[in-house]
Amino acid sequence: MRVIVAKNAAEVGKRAAGIIAATVNREPSCVLGLATGGTPLDAYRELIRRHKEEGLDFSRVTTFNLDEYVGLPPTHPQSYRYFMQTNLFDHLNIVPANTHVPDGRSLNFETHCRQYEHRIADAGGIDLQLLGVGSDGHIAFNEPGSSLGSRTRLKTLTRETVEANARFFGSIDKVPRLAITMGVGTILETKRCLLLAVGEHKAAAVQATVEGPVSAQVTASALQLHQEVIVILDEAAARRLERRAYYDDVEQAQTLLEEGRFQELGIGNQS
Ligand code: PGA
Repeated sequence: MRVIVAKNAAEVGKRAAGIIAATVNREPSCVLGLATGGTPLDAYRELIRRHKEEGLDFSRVTTFNLDEYVGLPPTHPQSYRYFMQTNLFDHLNIVPANTHVPDGRSLNFETHCRQYEHRIADAGGIDLQLLGVGSDGHIAFNEPGSSLGSRTRLKTLTRETVEANARFFGSIDKVPRLAITMGVGTILETKRCLLLAVGEHKAAAVQATVEGPVSAQVTASALQLHQEVIVILDEAAARRLERRAYYDDVEQAQTLLEEGRFQELGIGNQS
């Protein structure tokens, strides 16, 4: 994993948006995997700015979201479809039919989940998957104990997740107990992952994700098996990392490489 520590939440968003924008510029018909929650909001704001001010073009981009609450229609203010419309899609030139979020109204779970997986495959797979991490170490709604080979499916939310989300619903009784989520196995098949975390309350989950053993108890730790993961953190979320100094060395070496400063990397000094 490549671990980048940014100064603050706004910088995390800018770095993430820069990587997403570079993907879109390089491959205008790319497939993006998107996430909801508080974490990606700064990145989405920056993408909207780049679209409006710099002409970043989403007209050929396809998106798939990670998850959706079961029981909420797309017009419900807490549904993830509504979140994506208001925080991103409505402000870009993306084709609505090219944006996919699992349907929270579908009660035909198995068929719907299978179709979602087929749609991802038909689109050619996900080029870049944006991810947050829960304070319990979940990615998407793959709660602790989820099979690391799991596919898109129905999932019961943990109490911790329900409580964490109660603030958005006004009362804990209104929080849905079920969600449809991409599986850990689905996420592991994406070509590149971008995991973001901000804040002290994520520090333990981040440490377990990056440095802990691979475990179904911390589903984000499965990303250690992924072919290419970039983790972008603010200082608070990075606080418990034990190998922080090494991650900073890697970033410094990367910068020197990109700037062609080979001598400072010990290249070409030997006679
Ligand atoms: P958050 O959620 O971005 O709102 O912190 C992340 C998650 O639970 O996956």
